[in-house]
Amino acid sequence: MPELTALCAAHDILPAVADLLPKQAAPDRHYALQFASAAGTGSQSGTLASYAPPAGVRSLWAMAVHGSAPQLQQASDNTLVINAIGVLENHAEQASNCGLPPDTPLAALLLARLNALRADRSLTEALLQLRQQLHGYLAFIVLETQAADQFFICSLGWPLYLGIRNRDLHICTTELALARDIADQIHTVQSGVLLRFGPHGSASLHGDGSEHPLILLAPAQLGKFPHFMLEEIYAQPAILAALAARSQQGLSPVSPALRSDLAHVTHVLLLACGSSFHSAQVASYWLESLGGVTVQVELTSEYRYRDSLPPPQTLVIAISQSGETADTLASLRHTQAQGLSASVAITNTPGSSITRLARHHLLTLAGLERAIFSTKTFTAQLLMLYQLALALGEARGRLGPERLALAKQEMARLPALVNATLQLAPQIREWAQQLAQRHSLFVIGRNMHYPVAMEGAFKLKEVAYLHAEGYPAGELKHGPITMVDSTLPVIACLPWNNHAEKALANLQEVRARNGEIFAFSDAALAPVERLHVIRVPGGLNDLSPIIYTVALQLFAYYCGVARGNNIDTPRNLAKSLSSDQPSGQR
Ligand code: G6P
Repeated sequence: MPELTALCAAHDILPAVADLLPKQAAPDRHYALQFASAAGTGSQSGTLASYAPPAGVRSLWAMAVHGSAPQLQQASDNTLVINAIGVLENHAEQASNCGLPPDTPLAALLLARLNALRADRSLTEALLQLRQQLHGYLAFIVLETQAADQFFICSLGWPLYLGIRNRDLHICTTELALARDIADQIHTVQSGVLLRFGPHGSASLHGDGSEHPLILLAPAQLGKFPHFMLEEIYAQPAILAALAARSQQGLSPVSPALRSDLAHVTHVLLLACGSSFHSAQVASYWLESLGGVTVQVELTSEYRYRDSLPPPQTLVIAISQSGETADTLASLRHTQAQGLSASVAITNTPGSSITRLARHHLLTLAGLERAIFSTKTFTAQLLMLYQLALALGEARGRLGPERLALAKQEMARLPALVNATLQLAPQIREWAQQLAQRHSLFVIGRNMHYPVAMEGAFKLKEVAYLHAEGYPAGELKHGPITMVDSTLPVIACLPWNNHAEKALANLQEVRARNGEIFAFSDAALAPVERLHVIRVPGGLNDLSPIIYTVALQLFAYYCGVARGNNIDTPRNLAKSLSSDQPSGQR
């Protein structure tokens, strides 16, 4: 298929067009250009070699380059302009629906269908409807002449790649290589998703009337960090701030339709694997205490083969950073076959398979994660799950305004406290240098910090290839304590809350066996023999797991570096698993 590409910039688009054209291969290939200027819209086409910049172009550029003839088709009336490429498999049927001959050009056909659908609908509704009726491999851009600095774009049969460079230039293209050439950061938007795209941001538009902004966070300090993992760890305050800000502004990510499902829920089934499973486990504490429901957390590689009997009023929450992990998709389908229809997917990938499978979806808006490991998407999942637990408690009449206000205050404080945690990197690196060559580690925590410890140990395995076991602190004495001696360090998450006393007692048992403890704590604990302490920021109750997660991410990262590992692309791991086996792809 030829390429369809759109560029937007807040200012002059011409330098970007001139920069991009040579990347489109041979000079004898054709381009077709659609632009919007202050004076209106216009178009131009020719060979790449003969390209001359049009005057006064402001914000839109769409092109197709293929063989020796331009494949981009344009059609317009007074209100709409459509650019289209590709093959519509049901072209003849669609043409006959509008009384047009079967050889009507694609763009003209789409324009006619759209105008028919617009008779009793908004443009967005008409586009969503149109998308359902099209089968084939095609991509189209639609713009309203009255609002030509933003437009709608959709690709069927192929994904779209959305990117940003230098905070200013936005690209949306069917051509991955082109997006990679131009953009610092790329979002993949799966086939069939309708986007509204423009210089002031982009959003995916959905059949239930909701729209989800796609926040492309241009990495402010790209190049400063030696690895994407570290860059992504440091991106967390900004991502969490953006998510928290929406809730401060009263913009709940929970749509009215999801809220009405939440009112009837008595049980929650969380489905996930890998890191997402640990975020599900943390969330189970919030869902119980804030939502007042019973909660079950399942690993999807197991759950899909189980004959479980979830109660009828169950909300299924499927969590997957990629939205494409095969076991998680299969488990979600399994619950649907069991008759559970209320489901919500939490994912970082707009338009991914999971968003199409679940009845509702919530996007974590953390931007593309280039490292294999979940770091920024993990904490964004946590914050999203927290907001969902609050919405559940509210919908079920359990949480009053005062409790919700407290939660909002925590969310508002969170980004600065994560930032303060990142300032501890030099101390954490020292611990890592000291411990990275050990054979084994325990990571322990209690209550919500138990899954945090699990995630910390998981990260140590993924990044540092270091055997680490995440354990509930209270369980050490039931067996694993036999392994504790001066060679097996214990990393402890020790927030000063009402579980602290019990956790301290567990640590005493470790010290009594000559074990060496490395505790992250918000308390002013005095280090004593075999007890090392890094004081992390306090001031959070519900969201404290995020602080300890970030500290453990840094610890795993520096252990991986100390062991000389390939940080961003570790051996044997894939970013999303589309089958039961690692595919080796990023
Ligand atoms: C892979 C990655 C893990 C990730 C897991 C789940 O195995 O190596 O880091 O946590 O997939 O991915 P998902 O996209 O479903 O959250």
